[in-house]
Amino acid sequence: MGKNYYITTPIYYPSAKPHMGHAYSSILADFFARFKRIQGFNVFFLTGTDEHGQKIQRAAKEKNKDPQSFCDEISENFRKLSKTLNLSNNDFIRTTESRHLKSASHLWDKLENNKEIYLSKYSGWYSVSDEAFYAENEIQELDGKKIATNSGSEVEWVEEESYFFRLSKWEKPLLDFYKKNPKFILPESRKNEVISFVKSGLKDLSVSRKSFSWGIKVPSNNDHVIYVWLDALTNYISALNYPNQNDILYKNFWPADLHLIGKDILRFHAVYWPAFLLASNIAPPKRVYGHGWILSGDEKMSKSKGNILDPIEVIDKYGIDPLRYYLIKEVSFGNDGNISKEKLENCINSDLANNYGNLCQRVISFIEKNSSFKVPKIDKFSEDDLNVLNKFQQNYKNLISYIDNQNVNSYVSFIVDNLFAANKYFNDQEPWKKKSDLKRLNTINYVSLELIRKLSILLYPIIPSSALKSLNIFGIKENEIDFNSIVNNESLIPNSKLLKIGILFKKVENND
Ligand code: MSP
Repeated sequence: MGKNYYITTPIYYPSAKPHMGHAYSSILADFFARFKRIQGFNVFFLTGTDEHGQKIQRAAKEKNKDPQSFCDEISENFRKLSKTLNLSNNDFIRTTESRHLKSASHLWDKLENNKEIYLSKYSGWYSVSDEAFYAENEIQELDGKKIATNSGSEVEWVEEESYFFRLSKWEKPLLDFYKKNPKFILPESRKNEVISFVKSGLKDLSVSRKSFSWGIKVPSNNDHVIYVWLDALTNYISALNYPNQNDILYKNFWPADLHLIGKDILRFHAVYWPAFLLASNIAPPKRVYGHGWILSGDEKMSKSKGNILDPIEVIDKYGIDPLRYYLIKEVSFGNDGNISKEKLENCINSDLANNYGNLCQRVISFIEKNSSFKVPKIDKFSEDDLNVLNKFQQNYKNLISYIDNQNVNSYVSFIVDNLFAANKYFNDQEPWKKKSDLKRLNTINYVSLELIRKLSILLYPIIPSSALKSLNIFGIKENEIDFNSIVNNESLIPNSKLLKIGILFKKVENND
């Protein structure tokens, strides 16, 4: 069996149209998925929509629609967004699909059979916006309203019969699990938050609702619907055809390698989800990474705050690769970051057009004029040549480890540094002054082409379509991109034809 890798995005609430925060989770997940594919892994990359619960039921009602047709419409926007973002997802799951209903109902039965669930009564605070129950000490009063301190969302008092999951019983096993798997929760700072939350004592969790109907019915008691988070988290195994644990997808891909999520939903993924799984005798995922937020000013972007930046508008104006590059490079992964027109334009001009675009354009047009547009022959590599080429070999293992530890910043810094180094190499070597020494001229050109090839491979997970355009110079197709080949300094075959490249990135003029 080959090496498998399973990565997921959160499944999005189709309560309103997608915004930049959603695009962010998806683009980052796509970045990891594409890297692992070119590294040689058999990747399964899942995204989708989370369609049940009171939040969706209310949003549909506001629009005078029945929840199913409301979800059909908005889920379609998310599916379209996946295409616009150039996501390479293998599947798109909707929690209203029958495969998911079957899977979530089965998980419930399993929990009930394992005596992990009991019937009682819930009285406490609930935030429909977060679809979360809050304890008294997590609530505060603001302008006469009760809000959840963490999220700022309004809470309401709920009193109803409810099934409970014996979360309290899993406090110790969870702490042991975190200890045994020190990288289960990343980044480290967030891990500490989760551990102190668990250590402070876990209460049993209400896992069904009775006062509305938009959800998956509790199999043994149709008056209740399954709590939307228990329903939603199950998507990660529904897509692998759980409960059929002999299914090839399930066998290959569970436990997931990485659930990439925003920090606001860490508790659900790092506490409730592994507890549900342990209680059902299923292995928990290998890692949950809680990324930061894309802020608008200094606030989280959200529908209720009305400060949403529409990814489609940004893409229409600048293109998808610049947006991907910006979000991956300029937002320090793990922390909050923001996006502004000025910063995005600056990034396009300096990094993409001046650094990468310029390298490709200059080298290619020089070769077109001087080497009849074929891969030139190497004479012998000089020390300068080897210095610049061997950086890739020397950092091969580091680059893999950056990705496997979600150290996006170091991965990107390596590329940026080496783009500078490649431009500098071409400048310093001055091939245009070597016309009387064709052997040297050809070698410089060869090295420059190899640098473009290596850097384009590394850039592919970030800016797939632009990197592909560059790799197309060498006739390299998408399914032929091989990260492992960055260690090779002589992969291009002398005399083979080069193909033309269009303009990769247009500079943005400073006007509106
Ligand atoms: N439906 C749940 C997730 C269920 S996963 C089993 C949900 N949906 S959501 O649509 O509200 O948010 C989905 C993701 O988008 C979360 O990871 C959230 O952190 C992310 N973002 C929403 N707004 C964001 C920003 N402003 N910035 C970055 N990401 C944020 O939660």
